Amino acid sequence: MPSTTDPSRINLYINEVAPRDGFQNEAKFIDTDDKIALIDRLSNCGFAKIEVTSFTSPRAIPALRDAEAVMHRIRRHPDVLYTVLVPNARGAERALACQIDEANLVMSLSKSHNRANLRMGREQSFQQLQEVVAVLKRTPVLINVSLSTTFGCPMLGDIADDEIWRWMDRFAAIGVHGFTLCDTTGMAFPSQVQRICEGARTRFGEQQLTLHFHNTRGMALANTLAAINAGVVRFDAALGGLGGCPYAPGASGNVCTEDMIHMLDLMGYRTGIDLTAVLQAACLLPAMIGHEVPGQVLKAGRRLDLHPQPEQLQSA
Ligand code: COA
Ligand code: ZN
Repeated sequence: MPSTTDPSRINLYINEVAPRDGFQNEAKFIDTDDKIALIDRLSNCGFAKIEVTSFTSPRAIPALRDAEAVMHRIRRHPDVLYTVLVPNARGAERALACQIDEANLVMSLSKSHNRANLRMGREQSFQQLQEVVAVLKRTPVLINVSLSTTFGCPMLGDIADDEIWRWMDRFAAIGVHGFTLCDTTGMAFPSQVQRICEGARTRFGEQQLTLHFHNTRGMALANTLAAINAGVVRFDAALGGLGGCPYAPGASGNVCTEDMIHMLDLMGYRTGIDLTAVLQAACLLPAMIGHEVPGQVLKAGRRLDLHPQPEQLQSA
């Protein structure tokens, strides 16, 4: 889709990832019932997809050790695709027992981050994920691969574009349905995003392409617009701007859902999302997780939520 296209003709598809990317990073364990209530609320906000939880080792990510309970007890909305993070074959088995719609496999393009996060080399990760894909392909479950640190690794720096294409080629060859290019620690910047998104769309037109930005350096909304200019229509975002990888130094929150929708609505893009309902959901977060959240619209109000004038101006 060229950048000259009228925004009101562009449908954007938002994947709400706070229940996974957000909660995985919280020090305090969030009550299972609270997680379920929040996801049920999010299911009625108009999201295309919700990343519900993660079937990782409970020792690695204790915050999501209730993955089965959450997955079994949420109320599914027929228009929402429910996806979960799956790091290995054990995770795939557990996820398949919970009737997931999509498995989100994860591998880092940086060998150091892959070792820190998944405790193995990239080749070993790929071999394991290849086995997972083989199992999933016998089911109707969709397969997405999230490639962490695509826009830079906090330990090794830039990832060469050819390295991105090489790993995408290998995953495309084994039949995955979608890719998510992840800016794990907010190293992406708009012109880089546009170049990589254009490259990915040209090379991998058969797979769905999603972009996953973190706002670590304040560039996430700018990067979102750069990706839209390159024709990307699918984005991850986290309510309140929660999020972060516990195994990436300096990681902080995802692009904030309500801030992103607020901007996209003003510009006339079609997201299908009820911003008022999203803001109401975001309001519940501080009490649920025990601290303030980075989202800005929640604090400042929407652009045209006007304030009363001071009295001396009213009488003038
Ligand atoms: N679900 C539940 N338990 C799992 C599991 C899974 N998906 N994968 C491994 N385990 C358990 C094993 O059963 C084993 O338990 P035991 O010691 O009681 O026998 C233990 O975890 C270690 O297993 P091992 O195969 O040696 O895995 P590992 O320690 O090398 O860990 C990962 C590999 C990928 C499971 C782990 O590093 C992980 O979950 N990392 C988190 C990645 C993540 O979600 N990061 C943030 C998002 S990007
Ligand atoms: Zn993330």
